[in-house]
Amino acid sequence: MVRTLLLKAARNEAIKDAALRVGVTRGVVERFIAGEGAEDALRVSRTLVGQGLQVSVDHLGEDTRAAEQAEQVALAYLDLLSRLAEAGLAESVEVSVKLSAIGQLLPGDGEQLALEHASTICAAARAVGSDVTIDMEDHTTTDSTLAIVAELRRTHPSTGCVIQSYLHRSEADCERLAGSGSRVRLCKGAYSEPESVAYQGHDVDRSYVRCLRVLMEGEGRPMVATHDPRLIAIAADLATRNHRAQDSWEYQMLHGIRPEEQRRLVAAGHPVRVYLPYGTDWYGYMVRRMAEKPSNLALFLRGLVSK
Ligand code: FDA
Repeated sequence: MVRTLLLKAARNEAIKDAALRVGVTRGVVERFIAGEGAEDALRVSRTLVGQGLQVSVDHLGEDTRAAEQAEQVALAYLDLLSRLAEAGLAESVEVSVKLSAIGQLLPGDGEQLALEHASTICAAARAVGSDVTIDMEDHTTTDSTLAIVAELRRTHPSTGCVIQSYLHRSEADCERLAGSGSRVRLCKGAYSEPESVAYQGHDVDRSYVRCLRVLMEGEGRPMVATHDPRLIAIAADLATRNHRAQDSWEYQMLHGIRPEEQRRLVAAGHPVRVYLPYGTDWYGYMVRRMAEKPSNLALFLRGLVSK
């Protein structure tokens, strides 16, 4: 119930505007987000890489309403990639991109615009030895996003994508994506989805295991994006059963969530990548984190009252 309400709020422009006006970034920034600027993303990336972690930096923002805004987001990624290269971090730090932030949902030629911006970002990433993973948003965008990823992979074969285990379709998508050279980030899924398209409750975890089995048996690079201790253990078990080299797959977690577990896995020799958001448009991202764990709401509200 709380989860559903929060996820509805994530899409509500009036609540978003009010929250952004009040500005509660302080408490929020400390826990889940690097900060508002690219220099913050660089600073936190440097610390994480120093701890043996890899990073995927996300420029916060989604559901872009104008072509100019989409271009600004693309330029922000290009700037970030050149700064990562200058800082000597590009090999350990990739970027994550939401297609809706670079124009996908604009009427008319939105998908084409998103493809062009994403291609430019992929080319810039490749030029500095970094990489790109395309995030997955709500189910109405899944077909479009996977089609754009397929197009990107023709020129930039290492471009990664995200599969959400809560969708009924995902095991079949994993079968299609498990081939040589692919990079698939498997997560449970963070949006409010109807029962007509998505598993609910424990069925999401069961689907996660089925999807993971397909990816581990395949020839691509599974990116196991979860904080769930049971799924973390199952991933290690499936990797062993499939005789996978330790560097042929990786764990991924969100910045600020189970950091001690991130370090424990690194110490045990597993590659671990941290998803690190930065920017001012933190509202949708933060509300999804609260929906996953409503006790995070307290942190958010403390940020409000301490202003
Ligand atoms: P689950 O929600 O069951 O949590 C397991 C445990 O992890 C909890 O018991 C708690 O201890 C801890 N935990 C989880 N979330 C927490 C939170 N917010 N605060 C504090 N503790 C928390 N989704 C999507 O739809 N599209 C995408 O592109 C991505 N991308 C993405 C990248 C990466 C690297 C990760 C790790 C996750 C995503 N997600 C995502 C989000 C994902 O779908 C999912 O919502 C969260 O990872 C939470 O699910 P868990 O698998 O951790 O399980």
